[in-house]
Amino acid sequence: MPIIYPPINEEITMTHLIDLLPKAELHLHIEGSLEPELMLSLAERNQIKLPWETIEETRDAYQFHNLQSFLDIYYTGASVLCKEEDFADLAYAYLKKADADRVMHAEIFFDPQTHTDRGIPYEVVLDGLQAGFLRGEKEFGISGGYILCFLRHLSAEDAMTTLKHALPRANELLGVGLDSSEVGHPPAKFSDVFAQAHQAGLIPVAHAGEEGPPAYIHQALDLLRAVRIDHGVRCSEEEELVEELRDRQIPLTVCPLSNIKLGVFKSMEGHNLKALLEAGLCITLNSDDPAYFGGYLNSNFRAAHQALGLDDSQLVQLAKNGIRASFAPQARKESLLNQIDALSL
Ligand code: HPA
Ligand code: ZN
Repeated sequence: MPIIYPPINEEITMTHLIDLLPKAELHLHIEGSLEPELMLSLAERNQIKLPWETIEETRDAYQFHNLQSFLDIYYTGASVLCKEEDFADLAYAYLKKADADRVMHAEIFFDPQTHTDRGIPYEVVLDGLQAGFLRGEKEFGISGGYILCFLRHLSAEDAMTTLKHALPRANELLGVGLDSSEVGHPPAKFSDVFAQAHQAGLIPVAHAGEEGPPAYIHQALDLLRAVRIDHGVRCSEEEELVEELRDRQIPLTVCPLSNIKLGVFKSMEGHNLKALLEAGLCITLNSDDPAYFGGYLNSNFRAAHQALGLDDSQLVQLAKNGIRASFAPQARKESLLNQIDALSL
């Protein structure tokens, strides 16, 4: 599909296309967008002692070999978030980065238990996040909202308490999700919680098949009624599951840089996202925890493009998949899809 801008050479052309495409971000943990600069300034503002004192020390600590080694640092980092304004600053800072990458719709995960377990009221978290989003929405025109994630390493009772607390303001949320340490914490553990959330009109999504087996993807679909699978890349271990995901067009929110940093794939060249896209699955690209994994959405597009040789039509397909897989109102989806079509001759 030809592109309007002048083709200078292939690399610049691709970079421009990625930069120009209007995009949706569907898998972004707001706590994972906490950059070291903001982390250290909030630590000072709130008198929180961190194991790191400088930006260099903080970045040097980001040596991960699997999901758990990342989560340990991620929860420590999140401990600097205390007041409403901290959450507002965090959300606004993310939307500013998103705008620079031409993200026009963002569905953002947050982990209330990470904060309520430290004595921060749920209302402080949600009010702050909403204030930050509102500011970003006004300034950048980004649409979207928040998905409340339950921490799966904690009990189902804990998750139910969190849900009960959230229900009076359920209309302010897009949906519910499931994150944190996957192996040993199957989706089945949260069937009742998700059933109640579903009754309250919250759309279910779930992390599954990042480190966990294909069986966890089945459980997320069948027991939690997840309409999107976050990561889901281990589906390729089971042919029938790949066929089901393709036939039902269940979107997978794939996060390439995250997968490499956490050792889900040894190299970007070995990532299965292109094969899954070519097999007809609804693959979307996302940034997961960009402050920790080395890049926001366009960096994920670029890294996947460079390693896997995605062509123009595949880049366009990935961007369109993200918009179609979002929970944006139909008119917003059509407007964004039209903007993509307007880039092409
Ligand atoms: N997987 C599970 N839990 C998470 C992640 C992830 O990639 N990022 C933040 N919490
Ligand atoms: Zn994630």
